[in-house]
Amino acid sequence: MSLAVDAHESPSSDNSLFETVVEALAGTGWCVIPDFLPREAWQPLAAEARQLYADGGFRHAGVGRGESFSIRPEIRNDRVRWIDPLAATALQQGYLDRVESLRLAINRELMLGLFGFEGHFAIYPEGSFYKRHFDRFTDAANRTVTLVLYLNDDWQPQDGGALRIYETTESGAEIYSDVLPHGGSAVVFLTEKFAHEVLPANRERLSLTGWYFRRR
Ligand code: OGA
Ligand code: MN
Repeated sequence: MSLAVDAHESPSSDNSLFETVVEALAGTGWCVIPDFLPREAWQPLAAEARQLYADGGFRHAGVGRGESFSIRPEIRNDRVRWIDPLAATALQQGYLDRVESLRLAINRELMLGLFGFEGHFAIYPEGSFYKRHFDRFTDAANRTVTLVLYLNDDWQPQDGGALRIYETTESGAEIYSDVLPHGGSAVVFLTEKFAHEVLPANRERLSLTGWYFRRR
């Protein structure tokens, strides 16, 4: 079953959506896709993630990888659960299928050589944040495109929790854009190029964050 793909998106609208992503990656390097998933596809995913969380299936997120991994609540205090592609539920597989279609579309048009995808659910309990950072680990410089899907109903500006993406203009000034984590929307960016942070969330904030990577 492939819920995320079957649920009301026709192939042609997918093509134009994927084309938007490809053009953005080739241009500014990032974009927001307001309707990456229809409500009937993302709401069950959100419910599944919340159930896994209630069952203790998440752990404190850390920074670094391998020997340098550590839990640093002053930097980030979200909880994550990695998606195991070999044990994906039908809903998770539906999303992975969509992610795979987008990977193929990007590879057809850009020379990024995206090879696979790794992702996790993330829950930011009320008051949580993730300070400014880059997603690339120094010991694994193969994450190439970041794709974050948001899973929150009726998010309001006063709920905080915006993704703040920093850019440097041609004149060298730093600017930023704030993206609210509206359910069904996604943000895509070139991993290496954008420092970003998650501002403190005033209510529980749920997302599915992942990375297309190149072969090591
Ligand atoms: C991350 C991250 C952004 C977001 O998990 O590395 O920056 O909006 N997430 O959840
Ligand atoms: Mn990040």
